[in-house]
Amino acid sequence: MNLNILRFETLGSTNTEAIDQAKRGADEGLCILSREQTDGRGRRDRGWVSEKDAGLYFSILLRPHVTARYLPLLTLMTAVAVSEALEKFGLETDIKWPNDLLVKDKKISGILAEMTETPTGRAVIVGIGINLKDSAFSPEIADTATSLEGQLNRPTPAEDVLQSVTRSFSDYYDVFSREDGSKIIRQNWAKRSSYSEDKPVRVVTGSKVFDGTTRGIDENGALRVQTADGSMEVVHAGDVERLRGI
Ligand code: BTN
Repeated sequence: MNLNILRFETLGSTNTEAIDQAKRGADEGLCILSREQTDGRGRRDRGWVSEKDAGLYFSILLRPHVTARYLPLLTLMTAVAVSEALEKFGLETDIKWPNDLLVKDKKISGILAEMTETPTGRAVIVGIGINLKDSAFSPEIADTATSLEGQLNRPTPAEDVLQSVTRSFSDYYDVFSREDGSKIIRQNWAKRSSYSEDKPVRVVTGSKVFDGTTRGIDENGALRVQTADGSMEVVHAGDVERLRGI
């Protein structure tokens, strides 16, 4: 897939702009990039602090021709693509289900995928935020967040990171679109995530909180978690936190 990057100085949210453009008929591959966001959005109705040039903020418009149940795999795919791209800068990342990128247990990148109906069919917007500098996140979360500069002790040009991530994203999207694509995405995700198997976690969903041990992801990217009584929970949406000291 070829990406067509549209650059903005400032936007409320690149995801919102991409959704608007999708509704106006924009093609797959449109990439909305902004130097800052005044209303950056995160998963589960959280915000995403987006100071000018402190992070990379961009959203990619997709029009995938796969059955709806495979769509959650797109966010896992994105995490794999970002993880591989950051590796090129010497950063080893872990993926916390579903798609937080961590370096030494601190979050360096987040992904927000949203689906929208448009006059030309269903579209998926994949928004990616990557912390370039520590000023990308608020000081209150300094013990749980990090940045490329914070980890590498040198500035990394935003453009280099953008090129690396978009290239890796396009390559993985081509894989995803193949017949055996979802299997390859799941395998790559599992390779890059310590949360895939045998991780003691606390799961918080909209309706409940429970502890258990991870037992891989299912065909659609949902996380399987075994609880103390031996039963298997399949988590389609929610937050997962690692339980320490177990
Ligand atoms: C999360 O970890 O909760 C997801 C964060 C996603 C942030 C990115 S920044 C670019 C795009 N535009 C948004 O408003 N959000 C995503």
